Amino acid sequence: MPMTSSPLALSLLLFASLTALLVLAPRLSPPPPQPADSEAGEAAHEIEKARGVGEEADDLRLFRRAALEVANAKASSSSSSSSSPPGRPPKVAFLFLTNSDLTFAPLWERFFAGHQARLTVYVHADPAARLRLPPTRSFRGRFVAARPTRRADASLIAAARRLLAAALLDDPANAYFALLSQHCVPLHSFPRLYSALFPTPSSPPKPISYIEVLAGEPQLPARYAARGEGALLPEVPYERFRIGSQFFALARRHAVLVVRERRLWRKFRLPCLPDMADHSCYPEENYFPTLLDMADPAGLARYTLTNVNWTGSVDGHPRTYTAADVSPALIADLRRADGGRGGNGNGSSRTVPHMFARKFAPDCLAPLLAIADTGGRDLVQT
Ligand SMILES: *[C@@H]1O[C@H](CO)[C@@H](O)[C@H](O)[C@H]1NC(C)=O
Ligand SMILES: *[C@@H]1O[C@H](CO)[C@@H](O)[C@H](O)[C@H]1NC(C)=O
Repeated sequence: MPMTSSPLALSLLLFASLTALLVLAPRLSPPPPQPADSEAGEAAHEIEKARGVGEEADDLRLFRRAALEVANAKASSSSSSSSSPPGRPPKVAFLFLTNSDLTFAPLWERFFAGHQARLTVYVHADPAARLRLPPTRSFRGRFVAARPTRRADASLIAAARRLLAAALLDDPANAYFALLSQHCVPLHSFPRLYSALFPTPSSPPKPISYIEVLAGEPQLPARYAARGEGALLPEVPYERFRIGSQFFALARRHAVLVVRERRLWRKFRLPCLPDMADHSCYPEENYFPTLLDMADPAGLARYTLTNVNWTGSVDGHPRTYTAADVSPALIADLRRADGGRGGNGNGSSRTVPHMFARKFAPDCLAPLLAIADTGGRDLVQT
């Protein structure tokens, strides 16, 4: 091969890989196929568990690409105050983290209906989960590359970071990133949520993130020591350690911050000590509030938009509502109730009401749809 052709070959190769990068970057795929060999899956589970949540090469590439893309977009946009591309409305990215069917998809479809220009949907479904229900319209083709998720280790943090990175890459108009699960339901209409998140046509230069940030909770010492005494030092002194619901709605700059972050993630992904794993290892409830409170305390609402009922919680699970509990009165209560951890939530500081609630059992779908369909006691209508 003559020497003269190699620069061309090289630049073609470079072009091809750049193209691949651009084409593949926001790649969303249909729901993952069922694993052919569940024993292999089990073995992979065991290996990952033994070494903590690893920092896999494809995750690293995803996070770097998202950070790079965001930096490039920022450099090429003159109006740095607004993250949304000119002429396009900012969007709310709904990030669903699930390990079972998205049973409430029909309810979400009603919530999304007519507002598709102002929202995007992403799903991280545990590859080992057997999703029996086919995804409805808004969820079809919106599945991001996923890895196994489990309670009591950092895999839920990793999954949330993957969702944030995929949404950052997919659409520069994504301005808020709301993490939800298959057990979450909306409490208000989309326009109500949207006007709360974007209060004026020209929103304030620094939108805040809705994330619960609590200090002084009784579980904090055990949570802090869950990986061994001093394991989080020097990055996180005990006084800076926080707790809060993993169900956040992050402003775009905080989503970028999370995806770029390495120092705290390196510590929080360490496995918990075996005797702590049962009760004190929910790293997803500590990583996000600790990181964001250290980085930008003034930029946080310090409460979550997702109501949850911890009264009479069992084994770390909140109250799960069943069909018999669902009524317009429950919805009204959930909109009002503060829902803070341990019942000492400070409702006086809340300026945006609860927009979502959990946890709802799958049999709640029919009664919730019935409420959504009766105009007066609206769930999803204006
Ligand atoms: C929360 O759960 C408790 C106990 O299960 C129940 O008594 C209470 O009514 C629930 N609160 C709401 C707002 O549903
Ligand atoms: C509730 O929040 C307000 C405003 O942030 C604060 O001034 C007050 O001290 C808080 N009360 C309690 C009991 O935490």
